[in-house]
Amino acid sequence: MSITIKTPQEIEKMRVAGRLTAEVLDYITPYVKSGVTTGYLDQLCHDYIVNVQGCIPAPLNYAPPGYRPYPKSICASINHQVCHGVPGDRQLRNGDIVNLDVTVISDGYHGDSSRMFQVGETSVQARRLCEVTFECLWLGIVQVRAGAQLGDIGNAIQKHAEKSGYSVVREFCGHGIGASFHEEPQVLHYGRPHTGVRLEPGMVFTIEPMINAGRMAIRTMADGWTIVTKDHSLSAQWEHTILVTDTGYEVLTVSQATPPQPAWIR
Ligand code: MF3
Ligand code: CO
Ligand code: CO
Repeated sequence: MSITIKTPQEIEKMRVAGRLTAEVLDYITPYVKSGVTTGYLDQLCHDYIVNVQGCIPAPLNYAPPGYRPYPKSICASINHQVCHGVPGDRQLRNGDIVNLDVTVISDGYHGDSSRMFQVGETSVQARRLCEVTFECLWLGIVQVRAGAQLGDIGNAIQKHAEKSGYSVVREFCGHGIGASFHEEPQVLHYGRPHTGVRLEPGMVFTIEPMINAGRMAIRTMADGWTIVTKDHSLSAQWEHTILVTDTGYEVLTVSQATPPQPAWIR
């Protein structure tokens, strides 16, 4: 499949899916506290998506080629876990940082978003990593307009991460999204300006930089899903689903409590 241009009808469905996705993150926020297990957060999100929203949690049983079916409804990646952390009986502790990644299927269309959460009192280093990674996401988003190229997004993210002393994970990237969870194109979080696919109105894709405080190398845990930093350094990630419009971009994964765009980024 090549890159699809969404119709106005599809775009409206993706606005709904995006809003519902963000609303799951709003809903779970007050529960992200010391002592709670990631398995309980998963159960709460699952029940909210299915019973309140009447939607489907896309990760549950998701099985791309070469992977065993994903066993839970969200991803929860703590500290040195980069992404795809499988919720379980691990309790959150004071000082942890955790990424919760939610993907909702509403009326056949996907919304995909993740945020970082800080448990209790976190270190200055952990807070800075979360903040710089959020800035990386937004520096990527503001590159989005018809005529820009994917390399412009990757370059903006990579420059900010590396000038902050961090590294960009290479093995995972943003992705086209729509009726399928992962579509073309791949949206790399590093690269050169004026290279790569040229953006057109109606394209929808995620931007979801994974930024490591230490080296970029990663490995996969024995569960076949959870990705961790090889050097055990902290890792952070933020994700939005973005529509290319005639005038620039529209963030689809927005809700009442979506963290605001940093004032200095435009
Ligand atoms: N939500 C992730 C992404 O942003 C993908 C998770 S796949 C899963 O692309 F199976 F682990 F849920
Ligand atoms: Co994604
Ligand atoms: Co995601």
